[in-house]
Amino acid sequence: MSDVKIASVGKTFENKEEQTSYTVFDNIDLHVKSGEFVSLLGPSGCGKSTLLNIIAGLDQASTGSVLVGERKVTGPGVDRGVVFQEAALMPWMTVLDNVMFGIKKRYSKKEAKERAIEYLKLVHLSKFVDSYPHELSGGMKQRVSIARALAMDPEVLLMDEPFGALDEQTRSMLHKEVQFIWEQTGKTIIFVTHNIRESILLSDRIVLMGVRPGGIINIFDVPLARPRKPSDEAFASLEDKISKQLAGEIEKVMKEEMGDDYHSQKATLLYSSHRDMGDNI
Ligand SMILES: Nc1ncnc2c1ncn2[C@@H]1O[C@H](COP(=O)(O)OP(=O)(O)OP(=O)(O)O)[C@@H](O)[C@H]1O
Ligand SMILES: [Mg+2]
Repeated sequence: MSDVKIASVGKTFENKEEQTSYTVFDNIDLHVKSGEFVSLLGPSGCGKSTLLNIIAGLDQASTGSVLVGERKVTGPGVDRGVVFQEAALMPWMTVLDNVMFGIKKRYSKKEAKERAIEYLKLVHLSKFVDSYPHELSGGMKQRVSIARALAMDPEVLLMDEPFGALDEQTRSMLHKEVQFIWEQTGKTIIFVTHNIRESILLSDRIVLMGVRPGGIINIFDVPLARPRKPSDEAFASLEDKISKQLAGEIEKVMKEEMGDDYHSQKATLLYSSHRDMGDNI
């Protein structure tokens, strides 16, 4: 297992045609310990996906570096598995073939099949190995993509709003599933979400990111025993604390984006349902 060290990472997108540039964040330092479950939380556009893609090696940092264990990230690698919001399975392949696809070069066909079956079992999809993606629900497809990422035996699992497109009940089931997987495999998990409750349910630590200037604005420890219940007092109090800080960030974004309209609509936009804000932003 490996830890992830993000050192002075910055990202500026250059628009060469218009000769403009936009700095999403410029100095991110974060050390995710081996086996830790860390969430990246923040308003839309703060750079959560950008940071995750840099760790995945799918995008390049403009400054700084990311180390996984002792290795510097220079591109995608088998030490980092990625799960996105959309499962992106190959529709013409069975569930089993989808999971085997990424590992067939590294293992014999027999071994690849055994591994794929093992991980499909871990995500409770043993009965669906011969099904095709269109025969599965959204939650099942997401479980296939988790199995596909795990079958490569990555040291770190990077998840970008993996349950963002799912309904509340499916999402809640997958929360249990992902906790089970994390406990069973001991993987380091970095999980992007804009849902406060989801981040408290799952994480050891929550990294709150802000905008303009972008970067880490706070890191919350979640010292609550698992399984966690939103109705518990300590859960609710942390949720409240994070909501308040996140609301401040969202207000900042809305003020900039809406200009004068913001002031006339502020009350309805921000304070209609404070507690639910984490689920709905
Ligand atoms: N390829 C790109 N070129 C230019 N700007 C980009 C590019 N990708 C992202 N950005 C900008 O960088 C900022 C951060 O984007 P990012 O997708 O990382 O945000 P996010 O926190 O993941 O948001 P969301 O919660 O909506 O997914 C945004 O302002 C976005 O417009
Ligand atoms: Mg994103």
